Amino acid sequence: MPALLAAAWALLSAAFLALLLLHRAQARRPGVRTDVASAFFQDLIRYGKTKRGGGQQASWLRRLQVPKRWFTHFYVVSILWNGFLLLRLFQAEFLGASLPPWVQIFHGAFSTDLQKENTDSERFSALLVLLLLWLHSFQRLAECLYTSVFSNGVIHIVQYCFGIGYYIAVGSTVLCQVPTNVRNGEELSVQILWYHIVGIVMYIWASLHQHRCLVILANLRKSKSGKVLSLNHSIPFGDWFERVSCPHYFAELLIYISMAITFGFHNVTWWFVVMYVFFNQALAAVLCHEFYQEKFTSYPKHRKAFVPFIF
Ligand SMILES: NC(=O)c1ccc[n+]([C@@H]2O[C@H](COP(=O)([O-])OP(=O)(O)OC[C@H]3O[C@@H](n4cnc5c(N)ncnc54)[C@H](OP(=O)(O)O)[C@@H]3O)[C@@H](O)[C@H]2O)c1
Repeated sequence: MPALLAAAWALLSAAFLALLLLHRAQARRPGVRTDVASAFFQDLIRYGKTKRGGGQQASWLRRLQVPKRWFTHFYVVSILWNGFLLLRLFQAEFLGASLPPWVQIFHGAFSTDLQKENTDSERFSALLVLLLLWLHSFQRLAECLYTSVFSNGVIHIVQYCFGIGYYIAVGSTVLCQVPTNVRNGEELSVQILWYHIVGIVMYIWASLHQHRCLVILANLRKSKSGKVLSLNHSIPFGDWFERVSCPHYFAELLIYISMAITFGFHNVTWWFVVMYVFFNQALAAVLCHEFYQEKFTSYPKHRKAFVPFIF
């Protein structure tokens, strides 16, 4: 059933595209926003600084919120789950161990059986992507703990549960890109190919920019000596902020594209994951861009929301 996995990611990206289009349609007819369904919809898609209402928000909606700083939990879950998968896959590939039986059942159901001549490069690519995903979660956890300065922003409990599920699903998807033949017990012969190098270089480049942009955001709230002075939102400048409102979201997209490259460009399931990240981050970026434009009359006019020069 490998096609089922691709279909699930395609469906998820279609859902985020639909949310984006629905939001654009509502934004063009502001009067519509006042009914309960619209308020609930806006509450579901927004988080942090773009969440509207504060004190005026219905109390039942406020009860469904958790602190945005709990983003940290996503990366703890990801490091534990994807670290576990990485370790067990490494042992299976290089030390002749087998995957745990319950992982084998899942893997057998969703992965493909390839021709012998293709399996080694596919197996190594999947191992590399799982490593990149684990390192990315590690970087994000460190940024949540030591770089970012969080305000009292909130996220919806549905977004919180979705975030936890997402990092379990995305690592499991990488595991399922390992051909079923891995369980034959043959040791992997490592083949480093040109697209592995290109993917890794792009991953490092995008991660560096993502980190720089998160440092810029954190510095908006700090003095030169590093003391936190305020928890307000102000206009960020520098690095890719000169081109877009949410360069850290754009860098996230590039990180997932770098993984598609590491897979050798042809992994359809992973391109659907990239599509999901595109629409998910596009929605968040559009909401953030609108927030900046509404709050700051002096907001740079030439800045796009998400993708430089495009939108
Ligand atoms: N792969 C995925 O599906 C996915 C989903 C979501 C996020 N992410 C990634 O996770 C990272 C963080 O995302 P995010 O949505 O939390 O980013 P964000 O809303 O921009 O927040 C990042 C940090 O900067 C602060 N901040 C934001 N705008 C600010 C401003 N104008 N002035 C001062 N401080 C500001 C935030 O504080 P507050 O506490 O005030 O918000 C928070 O501490 C991003 O790189 C994103 O790509 C990935």
